[in-house]
Amino acid sequence: MQIGSGALAATTVAKTILQPHLLSAATRVAPSDTVRFASIGTGVRGCELLEATTHVPGVECVGVCDLYDTRHTAAREAVGKPTVTATREYRAILDRKDIDAVIIAVTDHQHRHIFEDACAAGKDVYCEKPMSHTVEDGFSMVETAHKNNRIIQIGSQRVSSVLYAKAKEIYDSGKLGEVFSINAYWDRNSPSGAWVYPIPPDASEKTIDWNTFLGDAPKHPFDPVRFFRWRCFKDYGEGLAGDLFVHLISGIHFITGANTVAQRAQSSGGLYHFKDGREFPDLIETLYDYPNFKVTLRCNLNNDGGEFIGFYGTQGTMIIKDTTLTYKPQDTRPEPEGYSVFGWPKELREQYLEEWHKEHPKPAALASKLDAEGESYANPPGYSDTVDHQANFFHAVRSRKPVTENEIFGNHAAIGCHLSNFAYFNQSVAVWDPAAKKIVKG
Ligand SMILES: NC(=O)c1ccc[n+]([C@@H]2O[C@H](COP(=O)([O-])OP(=O)(O)OC[C@H]3O[C@@H](n4cnc5c(N)ncnc54)[C@H](O)[C@@H]3O)[C@@H](O)[C@H]2O)c1
Repeated sequence: MQIGSGALAATTVAKTILQPHLLSAATRVAPSDTVRFASIGTGVRGCELLEATTHVPGVECVGVCDLYDTRHTAAREAVGKPTVTATREYRAILDRKDIDAVIIAVTDHQHRHIFEDACAAGKDVYCEKPMSHTVEDGFSMVETAHKNNRIIQIGSQRVSSVLYAKAKEIYDSGKLGEVFSINAYWDRNSPSGAWVYPIPPDASEKTIDWNTFLGDAPKHPFDPVRFFRWRCFKDYGEGLAGDLFVHLISGIHFITGANTVAQRAQSSGGLYHFKDGREFPDLIETLYDYPNFKVTLRCNLNNDGGEFIGFYGTQGTMIIKDTTLTYKPQDTRPEPEGYSVFGWPKELREQYLEEWHKEHPKPAALASKLDAEGESYANPPGYSDTVDHQANFFHAVRSRKPVTENEIFGNHAAIGCHLSNFAYFNQSVAVWDPAAKKIVKG
Protein backbone atom coordinates (compact mmCIF):
# COMPACT_ATOMS: atom_id res chain seq x y z
CA MET A 1 0.00 0.00 0.00
CA GLN A 2 1.34 3.44 -0.91
CA ILE A 3 0.38 6.78 0.52
CA GLY A 4 1.41 10.26 -0.54
CA SER A 5 -0.22 12.19 -3.36
CA GLY A 6 -0.64 15.60 -5.02
CA ALA A 7 1.76 18.38 -4.17
CA LEU A 8 3.37 16.36 -1.38
CA ALA A 9 4.14 13.43 -3.67
CA ALA A 10 5.88 15.79 -6.06
CA THR A 11 8.57 16.54 -3.48
CA THR A 12 8.37 13.58 -1.06
CA VAL A 13 8.89 9.91 -1.80
CA ALA A 14 5.66 7.97 -1.28
CA LYS A 15 5.76 6.00 1.95
CA THR A 16 5.15 2.27 1.79
CA ILE A 17 3.29 0.94 4.80
CA LEU A 18 4.79 -2.38 5.83
CA GLN A 19 2.73 -5.42 6.85
CA PRO A 20 3.06 -7.07 10.29
CA HIS A 21 5.00 -10.30 10.60
CA LEU A 22 3.12 -13.38 9.42
CA LEU A 23 3.72 -15.35 12.60
CA SER A 24 1.67 -12.95 14.72
CA ALA A 25 -1.24 -12.99 12.27
CA ALA A 26 -4.23 -14.99 13.40
CA THR A 27 -2.96 -18.30 12.02
CA ARG A 28 -4.47 -21.43 13.53
CA VAL A 29 -2.35 -23.47 15.92
CA ALA A 30 -3.57 -26.97 16.80
CA PRO A 31 -4.64 -27.13 20.47
CA SER A 32 -2.03 -29.87 21.03
CA ASP A 33 0.66 -27.36 19.96
CA THR A 34 -0.34 -24.71 22.50
CA VAL A 35 2.72 -23.42 24.37
CA ARG A 36 2.04 -23.06 28.09
CA PHE A 37 4.13 -20.35 29.66
CA ALA A 38 4.57 -18.35 32.85
CA SER A 39 5.95 -14.88 33.41
CA ILE A 40 8.57 -14.22 36.08
CA GLY A 41 8.70 -10.49 36.81
CA THR A 42 5.44 -8.71 36.11
CA GLY A 43 6.39 -5.08 36.53
CA VAL A 44 6.07 -2.53 33.74
CA ARG A 45 7.69 -4.64 31.01
CA GLY A 46 6.36 -7.94 32.31
CA CYS A 47 2.81 -6.61 32.02
CA GLU A 48 3.49 -5.19 28.55
CA LEU A 49 4.75 -8.60 27.46
CA LEU A 50 1.76 -10.39 29.00
CA GLU A 51 -0.60 -8.11 27.12
CA ALA A 52 1.38 -8.73 23.90
CA THR A 53 1.01 -12.51 24.29
CA THR A 54 -2.76 -12.10 24.06
CA HIS A 55 -2.20 -11.23 20.36
CA VAL A 56 -0.07 -14.31 19.67
CA PRO A 57 -1.93 -17.45 18.55
CA GLY A 58 -1.34 -20.79 20.27
CA VAL A 59 -0.03 -19.69 23.67
CA GLU A 60 -1.49 -19.81 27.15
CA CYS A 61 -0.31 -18.07 30.30
CA VAL A 62 -0.60 -20.50 33.22
CA GLY A 63 1.29 -18.67 35.94
CA VAL A 64 2.73 -15.32 36.98
CA CYS A 65 5.39 -14.49 39.55
CA ASP A 66 6.57 -11.29 41.16
CA LEU A 67 8.05 -10.16 44.45
CA TYR A 68 5.51 -7.33 44.78
CA ASP A 69 2.02 -8.71 45.47
CA THR A 70 0.18 -5.82 43.81
CA ARG A 71 1.84 -6.81 40.55
CA HIS A 72 0.08 -10.19 40.68
CA THR A 73 -3.16 -8.29 40.12
CA ALA A 74 -1.60 -6.12 37.39
CA ALA A 75 -0.32 -9.27 35.65
CA ARG A 76 -3.69 -11.01 35.81
CA GLU A 77 -5.30 -7.92 34.31
CA ALA A 78 -2.66 -7.61 31.57
CA VAL A 79 -3.11 -11.18 30.40
CA GLY A 80 -6.89 -11.13 30.94
CA LYS A 81 -6.92 -14.14 33.31
CA PRO A 82 -8.23 -13.04 36.72
CA THR A 83 -7.58 -16.43 38.33
CA VAL A 84 -4.21 -17.41 36.85
CA THR A 85 -1.86 -18.77 39.55
CA ALA A 86 0.34 -16.07 41.10
CA THR A 87 3.31 -16.52 43.39
CA ARG A 88 6.35 -14.73 44.81
CA GLU A 89 8.49 -17.90 44.36
CA TYR A 90 9.89 -18.38 40.88
CA ARG A 91 11.03 -21.89 41.78
CA ALA A 92 7.39 -22.87 42.24
CA ILE A 93 6.94 -21.95 38.56
CA LEU A 94 10.04 -23.84 37.42
CA ASP A 95 8.99 -26.98 39.34
CA ARG A 96 5.77 -27.23 37.33
CA LYS A 97 5.88 -29.89 34.62
CA ASP A 98 3.00 -28.32 32.68
CA ILE A 99 5.01 -25.19 31.81
CA ASP A 100 7.04 -25.20 28.56
CA ALA A 101 8.54 -21.74 28.60
CA VAL A 102 9.08 -18.72 30.83
CA ILE A 103 9.28 -15.02 30.20
CA ILE A 104 11.88 -13.43 32.48
CA ALA A 105 11.22 -9.71 32.95
CA VAL A 106 12.87 -9.12 36.30
CA THR A 107 15.43 -6.45 37.15
CA ASP A 108 18.72 -6.91 35.28
CA HIS A 109 20.72 -8.08 38.29
CA GLN A 110 18.34 -11.02 38.72
CA HIS A 111 18.47 -12.23 35.10
CA ARG A 112 21.34 -14.68 35.42
CA HIS A 113 20.24 -16.93 38.23
CA ILE A 114 16.58 -17.14 37.16
CA PHE A 115 17.64 -17.74 33.53
CA GLU A 116 20.06 -20.48 34.56
CA ASP A 117 17.59 -22.15 36.92
CA ALA A 118 14.95 -22.03 34.17
CA CYS A 119 17.32 -23.66 31.65
CA ALA A 120 18.25 -26.35 34.17
CA ALA A 121 14.53 -26.99 34.75
CA GLY A 122 14.10 -27.61 31.01
CA LYS A 123 12.17 -24.42 30.21
CA ASP A 124 12.68 -22.36 27.07
CA VAL A 125 13.38 -18.75 27.96
CA TYR A 126 12.42 -15.32 26.72
CA CYS A 127 14.72 -13.07 28.78
CA GLU A 128 14.46 -9.32 28.74
CA LYS A 129 17.34 -7.18 27.56
CA PRO A 130 20.08 -6.49 28.44
CA MET A 131 20.76 -10.19 28.80
CA SER A 132 23.50 -9.76 31.40
CA HIS A 133 24.31 -7.47 34.31
CA THR A 134 28.04 -8.27 33.98
CA VAL A 135 30.28 -9.77 31.28
CA GLU A 136 30.80 -12.83 33.46
CA ASP A 137 27.03 -13.33 33.85
CA GLY A 138 26.58 -13.31 30.08
CA PHE A 139 29.10 -16.06 29.32
CA SER A 140 27.78 -18.21 32.13
CA MET A 141 24.24 -17.82 30.75
CA VAL A 142 25.36 -18.82 27.23
CA GLU A 143 27.07 -21.91 28.62
CA THR A 144 24.01 -22.93 30.65
CA ALA A 145 21.65 -22.43 27.70
CA HIS A 146 23.85 -24.63 25.51
CA LYS A 147 24.34 -27.29 28.16
CA ASN A 148 20.59 -27.62 28.53
CA ASN A 149 19.84 -27.22 24.82
CA ARG A 150 17.20 -24.53 25.34
CA ILE A 151 15.52 -22.11 22.93
CA ILE A 152 16.47 -18.64 24.12
CA GLN A 153 15.31 -15.26 22.93
CA ILE A 154 16.51 -11.95 24.36
CA GLY A 155 14.10 -9.03 24.52
CA SER A 156 15.32 -6.28 22.17
CA GLN A 157 12.13 -6.40 20.14
CA ARG A 158 13.34 -4.21 17.27
CA VAL A 159 15.14 -7.29 15.98
CA SER A 160 11.71 -8.71 15.04
CA SER A 161 10.36 -5.42 13.70
CA VAL A 162 9.11 -5.26 10.11
CA LEU A 163 10.87 -1.91 9.75
CA TYR A 164 14.22 -3.42 10.73
CA ALA A 165 13.61 -6.39 8.41
CA LYS A 166 13.18 -3.92 5.54
CA ALA A 167 16.30 -2.03 6.67
CA LYS A 168 18.26 -5.29 6.65
CA GLU A 169 16.96 -6.09 3.16
CA ILE A 170 18.20 -2.70 1.91
CA TYR A 171 21.56 -3.08 3.69
CA ASP A 172 22.07 -6.61 2.34
CA SER A 173 21.15 -5.53 -1.21
CA GLY A 174 24.37 -3.52 -1.35
CA LYS A 175 22.49 -0.35 -2.30
CA LEU A 176 24.27 1.57 0.44
CA GLY A 177 27.67 0.67 -1.00
CA GLU A 178 30.28 0.27 1.71
CA VAL A 179 29.16 1.50 5.13
CA PHE A 180 31.96 2.70 7.39
CA SER A 181 29.96 5.02 9.63
CA ILE A 182 26.85 4.31 11.72
CA ASN A 183 25.39 6.85 14.09
CA ALA A 184 22.48 6.28 16.46
CA TYR A 185 20.76 8.02 19.34
CA TRP A 186 17.81 7.63 21.67
CA ASP A 187 16.92 10.86 23.45
CA ARG A 188 14.08 11.56 25.90
CA ASN A 189 13.12 14.64 27.86
CA SER A 190 10.75 13.79 30.70
CA PRO A 191 10.97 12.47 34.27
CA SER A 192 9.41 9.20 33.08
CA GLY A 193 12.02 8.93 30.33
CA ALA A 194 14.63 9.37 33.08
CA TRP A 195 13.01 6.57 35.19
CA VAL A 196 11.62 8.90 37.87
CA TYR A 197 8.67 6.55 38.26
CA PRO A 198 6.00 7.21 40.94
CA ILE A 199 6.11 5.01 44.05
CA PRO A 200 2.76 3.17 44.51
CA PRO A 201 1.09 4.06 47.85
CA ASP A 202 0.94 0.43 49.05
CA ALA A 203 4.67 -0.26 48.60
CA SER A 204 6.09 -1.65 51.84
CA GLU A 205 8.07 -4.54 53.22
CA LYS A 206 4.74 -6.31 53.69
CA THR A 207 3.79 -6.16 50.01
CA ILE A 208 7.37 -6.55 48.61
CA ASP A 209 9.92 -9.30 49.27
CA TRP A 210 12.80 -6.85 49.64
CA ASN A 211 15.53 -9.35 50.60
CA THR A 212 14.87 -11.52 47.57
CA PHE A 213 14.92 -8.39 45.39
CA LEU A 214 18.40 -7.56 46.70
CA GLY A 215 19.60 -11.09 45.97
CA ASP A 216 23.41 -11.06 45.76
CA ALA A 217 23.53 -7.25 45.69
CA PRO A 218 24.84 -5.40 48.78
CA LYS A 219 22.36 -5.22 51.68
CA HIS A 220 20.28 -2.03 52.08
CA PRO A 221 17.33 -1.25 54.34
CA PHE A 222 14.00 -1.26 52.46
CA ASP A 223 14.08 1.55 49.93
CA PRO A 224 11.20 1.91 47.46
CA VAL A 225 13.29 4.29 45.33
CA ARG A 226 15.81 1.51 44.75
CA PHE A 227 13.01 -0.99 44.06
CA PHE A 228 11.01 1.10 41.58
CA ARG A 229 13.82 3.20 40.07
CA TRP A 230 16.41 0.42 40.02
CA ARG A 231 17.86 1.50 36.64
CA CYS A 232 19.52 4.43 38.43
CA PHE A 233 21.71 2.15 40.57
CA LYS A 234 24.74 0.08 39.59
CA ASP A 235 23.76 -2.82 41.86
CA TYR A 236 20.65 -3.59 39.77
CA GLY A 237 20.96 -1.95 36.34
CA GLU A 238 23.39 -0.45 33.82
CA GLY A 239 21.92 3.02 33.35
CA LEU A 240 21.31 4.33 29.84
CA ALA A 241 23.63 1.82 28.21
CA GLY A 242 21.69 -1.18 29.53
CA ASP A 243 18.33 0.46 29.05
CA LEU A 244 18.63 2.03 25.58
CA PHE A 245 22.05 1.49 23.95
CA VAL A 246 21.26 -2.22 23.98
CA HIS A 247 18.33 -1.66 21.59
CA LEU A 248 20.47 0.43 19.24
CA ILE A 249 23.36 -2.05 19.33
CA SER A 250 20.97 -4.98 18.75
CA GLY A 251 19.43 -3.14 15.78
CA ILE A 252 22.85 -2.38 14.29
CA HIS A 253 24.07 -5.97 14.79
CA PHE A 254 20.90 -7.33 13.22
CA ILE A 255 20.86 -5.02 10.18
CA THR A 256 24.59 -5.25 9.41
CA GLY A 257 24.89 -8.92 10.35
CA ALA A 258 27.95 -7.94 12.43
CA ASN A 259 26.90 -10.01 15.40
CA THR A 260 30.07 -9.50 17.37
CA VAL A 261 31.60 -7.43 20.16
CA ALA A 262 33.15 -4.05 19.35
CA GLN A 263 36.93 -4.07 19.63
CA ARG A 264 37.03 -0.97 21.81
CA ALA A 265 34.90 1.86 23.13
CA GLN A 266 35.36 5.40 24.42
CA SER A 267 32.67 7.23 26.37
CA SER A 268 31.90 10.76 27.43
CA GLY A 269 28.92 12.28 29.23
CA GLY A 270 27.75 13.48 32.62
CA LEU A 271 24.95 13.84 35.14
CA TYR A 272 23.58 17.30 34.39
CA HIS A 273 19.92 17.49 35.34
CA PHE A 274 18.58 14.43 37.19
CA LYS A 275 20.73 14.85 40.30
CA ASP A 276 18.44 12.72 42.45
CA GLY A 277 21.00 10.38 43.97
CA ARG A 278 21.37 8.23 40.86
CA GLU A 279 24.69 6.65 39.99
CA PHE A 280 24.49 6.92 36.18
CA PRO A 281 24.86 9.90 33.84
CA ASP A 282 21.83 11.46 32.13
CA LEU A 283 23.87 12.01 28.98
CA ILE A 284 26.25 9.44 27.54
CA GLU A 285 28.00 9.22 24.21
CA THR A 286 30.10 6.25 23.14
CA LEU A 287 32.32 5.64 20.12
CA TYR A 288 32.76 2.00 19.17
CA ASP A 289 35.38 0.46 16.86
CA TYR A 290 34.08 -2.55 14.95
CA PRO A 291 36.27 -4.38 12.44
CA ASN A 292 34.55 -2.91 9.37
CA PHE A 293 32.91 0.31 10.60
CA LYS A 294 32.68 2.84 13.42
CA VAL A 295 29.57 3.37 15.51
CA THR A 296 28.69 6.43 17.58
CA LEU A 297 25.83 6.19 20.08
CA ARG A 298 24.19 8.80 22.29
CA CYS A 299 21.48 8.81 24.92
CA ASN A 300 20.45 12.19 26.25
CA LEU A 301 17.73 12.54 28.88
CA ASN A 302 17.62 16.30 28.40
CA ASN A 303 16.19 16.62 24.90
CA ASP A 304 13.35 14.81 23.17
CA GLY A 305 15.18 13.71 20.03
CA GLY A 306 13.49 10.31 19.77
CA GLU A 307 15.05 7.18 18.31
CA PHE A 308 17.43 7.26 15.34
CA ILE A 309 19.89 5.03 13.50
CA GLY A 310 21.75 6.30 10.42
CA PHE A 311 23.85 4.14 8.08
CA TYR A 312 26.16 6.25 5.93
CA GLY A 313 27.39 4.37 2.87
CA THR A 314 29.44 5.18 -0.21
CA GLN A 315 26.33 4.74 -2.41
CA GLY A 316 23.54 5.91 -0.15
CA THR A 317 22.21 6.78 3.29
CA MET A 318 19.64 4.83 5.26
CA ILE A 319 17.87 6.40 8.23
CA ILE A 320 15.57 4.79 10.76
CA LYS A 321 13.73 7.53 12.66
CA ASP A 322 11.20 6.28 15.19
CA THR A 323 8.66 4.35 13.07
CA THR A 324 9.90 5.30 9.60
CA LEU A 325 12.75 4.19 7.36
CA THR A 326 14.21 6.09 4.43
CA TYR A 327 16.87 5.19 1.91
CA LYS A 328 18.42 7.96 -0.16
CA PRO A 329 20.87 7.03 -2.90
CA GLN A 330 23.84 9.20 -3.70
CA ASP A 331 24.48 10.13 -7.31
CA THR A 332 27.98 8.73 -7.76
CA ARG A 333 28.07 8.92 -11.55
CA PRO A 334 31.42 10.42 -12.64
CA GLU A 335 31.53 14.15 -13.17
CA PRO A 336 34.35 16.53 -14.04
CA GLU A 337 36.12 18.38 -11.29
CA GLY A 338 34.28 21.65 -10.75
CA TYR A 339 35.92 23.15 -7.70
CA SER A 340 39.70 22.99 -7.74
CA VAL A 341 39.98 24.00 -11.41
CA PHE A 342 38.86 27.50 -10.44
CA GLY A 343 42.50 28.00 -9.50
CA TRP A 344 43.48 27.29 -13.13
CA PRO A 345 43.65 29.81 -15.98
CA LYS A 346 40.67 29.67 -18.37
CA GLU A 347 42.63 28.01 -21.17
CA LEU A 348 43.89 25.15 -19.01
CA ARG A 349 40.46 24.72 -17.46
CA GLU A 350 38.78 24.41 -20.85
CA GLN A 351 41.44 21.99 -22.04
CA TYR A 352 40.87 19.85 -18.93
CA LEU A 353 37.08 19.82 -19.46
CA GLU A 354 37.43 18.91 -23.11
CA GLU A 355 39.74 16.01 -22.27
CA TRP A 356 37.48 14.87 -19.46
CA HIS A 357 34.40 14.76 -21.66
CA LYS A 358 36.33 12.87 -24.34
CA GLU A 359 37.34 10.24 -21.78
CA HIS A 360 33.91 10.05 -20.12
CA PRO A 361 30.95 9.49 -22.40
CA LYS A 362 27.73 11.08 -21.11
CA PRO A 363 26.66 9.00 -18.09
CA ALA A 364 23.48 6.97 -18.43
CA ALA A 365 20.36 8.45 -16.90
CA LEU A 366 19.34 6.91 -13.58
CA ALA A 367 17.30 3.78 -14.21
CA SER A 368 14.19 4.87 -12.34
CA LYS A 369 12.62 7.53 -10.17
CA LEU A 370 13.35 5.34 -7.16
CA ASP A 371 17.06 5.39 -8.03
CA ALA A 372 16.96 9.17 -7.91
CA GLU A 373 14.62 9.80 -4.99
CA GLY A 374 15.05 6.79 -2.75
CA GLU A 375 12.55 4.81 -0.75
CA SER A 376 10.50 5.37 2.36
CA TYR A 377 8.69 2.93 4.64
CA ALA A 378 6.62 3.05 7.80
CA ASN A 379 5.19 0.68 10.35
CA PRO A 380 1.48 -0.04 9.96
CA PRO A 381 -0.74 1.99 12.34
CA GLY A 382 -0.83 0.48 15.84
CA TYR A 383 2.03 -1.91 14.99
CA SER A 384 3.81 -3.66 17.88
CA ASP A 385 7.23 -5.18 17.31
CA THR A 386 6.87 -6.66 20.81
CA VAL A 387 4.01 -8.84 19.52
CA ASP A 388 6.15 -9.95 16.56
CA HIS A 389 9.08 -10.66 18.90
CA GLN A 390 6.85 -12.78 21.12
CA ALA A 391 5.44 -14.59 18.08
CA ASN A 392 8.96 -15.42 16.88
CA PHE A 393 9.87 -16.83 20.28
CA PHE A 394 6.80 -19.01 20.69
CA HIS A 395 7.13 -20.23 17.10
CA ALA A 396 10.71 -21.29 17.86
CA VAL A 397 9.58 -23.09 21.01
CA ARG A 398 7.34 -25.19 18.76
CA SER A 399 9.71 -25.61 15.80
CA ARG A 400 12.95 -25.95 17.87
CA LYS A 401 14.66 -23.70 15.31
CA PRO A 402 16.79 -21.00 16.99
CA VAL A 403 15.76 -17.37 16.75
CA THR A 404 17.94 -14.50 15.49
CA GLU A 405 18.26 -12.84 18.90
CA ASN A 406 19.48 -15.93 20.70
CA GLU A 407 21.82 -16.12 23.71
CA ILE A 408 24.95 -15.40 21.64
CA PHE A 409 23.38 -12.36 20.02
CA GLY A 410 22.05 -11.13 23.37
CA ASN A 411 25.41 -11.61 25.05
CA HIS A 412 27.26 -9.64 22.37
CA ALA A 413 24.79 -6.75 22.56
CA ALA A 414 24.98 -6.66 26.36
CA ILE A 415 28.79 -6.57 26.28
CA GLY A 416 28.44 -3.42 24.14
CA CYS A 417 26.63 -1.82 27.11
CA HIS A 418 29.28 -2.97 29.56
CA LEU A 419 32.03 -1.54 27.31
CA SER A 420 30.28 1.83 27.31
CA ASN A 421 29.95 1.95 31.10
CA PHE A 422 33.48 0.64 31.66
CA ALA A 423 34.88 3.45 29.50
CA TYR A 424 32.67 6.08 31.19
CA PHE A 425 33.39 5.13 34.80
CA ASN A 426 37.10 4.35 34.31
CA GLN A 427 37.65 7.41 32.12
CA SER A 428 39.70 5.27 29.80
CA VAL A 429 39.41 3.40 26.54
CA ALA A 430 37.60 0.09 27.10
CA VAL A 431 39.22 -2.71 25.11
CA TRP A 432 37.52 -6.05 24.49
CA ASP A 433 39.89 -8.98 25.08
CA PRO A 434 38.17 -11.88 23.29
CA ALA A 435 40.63 -14.52 24.51
CA ALA A 436 40.20 -13.61 28.17
CA LYS A 437 36.50 -12.70 27.62
CA LYS A 438 37.13 -9.53 29.60
CA ILE A 439 37.07 -5.77 29.23
CA VAL A 440 40.44 -4.19 29.96
CA LYS A 441 41.73 -0.62 30.09
CA GLY A 442 43.25 0.61 26.85
N1 LIG B 1 12.44 -4.57 25.75
C1 LIG B 1 12.06 -3.41 26.23
O1 LIG B 1 11.69 -2.47 25.52
C2 LIG B 1 12.06 -3.21 27.72
C3 LIG B 1 11.33 -2.16 28.29
C4 LIG B 1 11.37 -2.02 29.67
C5 LIG B 1 12.09 -2.91 30.45
N2 LIG B 1 12.79 -3.90 29.87
C6 LIG B 1 13.53 -4.87 30.70
O2 LIG B 1 12.59 -5.65 31.42
C7 LIG B 1 13.10 -5.97 32.71
C8 LIG B 1 12.11 -5.46 33.77
O3 LIG B 1 12.00 -4.06 33.66
P1 LIG B 1 10.70 -3.29 34.21
O4 LIG B 1 10.70 -1.93 33.66
O5 LIG B 1 9.52 -4.14 34.01
O6 LIG B 1 11.06 -3.21 35.77
P2 LIG B 1 10.02 -3.20 36.97
O7 LIG B 1 10.75 -2.68 38.15
O8 LIG B 1 8.77 -2.50 36.56
O9 LIG B 1 9.66 -4.74 37.19
C9 LIG B 1 10.63 -5.67 37.57
C10 LIG B 1 9.94 -6.68 38.46
O10 LIG B 1 10.82 -7.79 38.67
C11 LIG B 1 10.45 -8.34 39.91
N3 LIG B 1 11.50 -9.22 40.41
C12 LIG B 1 12.79 -8.90 40.68
N4 LIG B 1 13.42 -9.98 41.14
C13 LIG B 1 12.53 -11.00 41.15
C14 LIG B 1 12.59 -12.36 41.54
N5 LIG B 1 13.71 -12.89 42.03
N6 LIG B 1 11.47 -13.10 41.43
C15 LIG B 1 10.32 -12.58 40.94
N7 LIG B 1 10.21 -11.28 40.57
C16 LIG B 1 11.31 -10.51 40.68
C17 LIG B 1 10.22 -7.15 40.80
O11 LIG B 1 9.38 -7.50 41.87
C18 LIG B 1 9.57 -6.16 39.84
O12 LIG B 1 8.16 -6.11 39.98
C19 LIG B 1 14.48 -5.34 32.78
O13 LIG B 1 15.44 -6.28 32.43
C20 LIG B 1 14.41 -4.24 31.76
O14 LIG B 1 15.68 -3.88 31.24
C21 LIG B 1 12.77 -4.08 28.53
